Amino acid sequence: MNIKEFNQSPKKVFESKFRKINSFETPAENIDLSVVDSFGEEWTKFHQFSKDEIDCLGEMYFDIIDEKIINKNTYGIDIGCGTGRFTKYLSDKIGFMEAVDPSDAIFSADNLLHGVENVRLSKASTDNIPFDDETFDFGMSIGVLHHIPNTQMALADCVKKIKIGGYFYLYLYYNLDNKGGLFRFLLLLVTGIRKIISALPNKIKKPICDIIAVLMYMPIVLLGRFLKFIGFKKLAEKLPLSGYQNQTFFVIRNDALDRFGTSLEQRFSKKEIEEMMRNCGLDYIKFSDNIPYWHVIGKRIK
Ligand SMILES: C[S@@+](CC[C@H](N)C(=O)[O-])C[C@H]1O[C@@H](n2cnc3c(N)ncnc32)[C@H](O)[C@@H]1O
Repeated sequence: MNIKEFNQSPKKVFESKFRKINSFETPAENIDLSVVDSFGEEWTKFHQFSKDEIDCLGEMYFDIIDEKIINKNTYGIDIGCGTGRFTKYLSDKIGFMEAVDPSDAIFSADNLLHGVENVRLSKASTDNIPFDDETFDFGMSIGVLHHIPNTQMALADCVKKIKIGGYFYLYLYYNLDNKGGLFRFLLLLVTGIRKIISALPNKIKKPICDIIAVLMYMPIVLLGRFLKFIGFKKLAEKLPLSGYQNQTFFVIRNDALDRFGTSLEQRFSKKEIEEMMRNCGLDYIKFSDNIPYWHVIGKRIK
């Protein structure tokens, strides 16, 4: 489809009252197609998030966003939207949102966002985002760019779609730069296991990740919940996987598959993320002090 023809006013989507998913060929320059296929498979299984689950995740991820950044006049884009869970969280706070993903997850997003009229969906990747440069007031990419071969280039492709003066929100896996030796050792172990599991066929991968959710995640999560229950909140927050203490088993299963089932995963320090953002013309960079690390927002100044 021609981008100019597609790049119509979102008002027309409001008026038409129906949503059609437009697909755009990816140039396959900066994309790992096996990762995209694996996510398509994953998200078609995990798409039935409840409102409570979405709200709980949204409050955790968007603690650095206020009404100045997102309000009813904001035109936004969610790049690598997956099932659209974060698009859905923002949909009643924002003017209009474009949600973009190259995988079949876009069809799950259509399901989850059923009845949400201020959202349009497109099947496309960071290297062919079907909108003119400097179109959006706000953009976000949550847990996506570390699964792309050249993260810096992908970030630049996203940020150029934001207006000067607009904001870009990013969540990238951290390299445990704020943690000690034990956490780093665990990451080494987990990375080794991930490399083996992610190479398995999808049919085997999923049950194995379910077992990991039960045997690896749940004991630590339950210990944390117990510590909180008996009043040791600070200690509970120091445990690995503490971000899951408030999440449902469904979200934990989904994340176990996400973590162990994906072959390409890159990790960055706070300093590296800040540098990549500045290279793209973002300034006024604000990192959250809270989990998940690192989530950050910047303002486009050039
Ligand atoms: C971990 S999921 C995150 C989905 C969503 N942002 C969320 O947090 O629920 C990563 C998503 O990135 C998408 N993705 C992978 N490569 C991409 C690319 N080159 N451009 C855009 N999205 C991509 C995948 O299809 C997948 O849906």
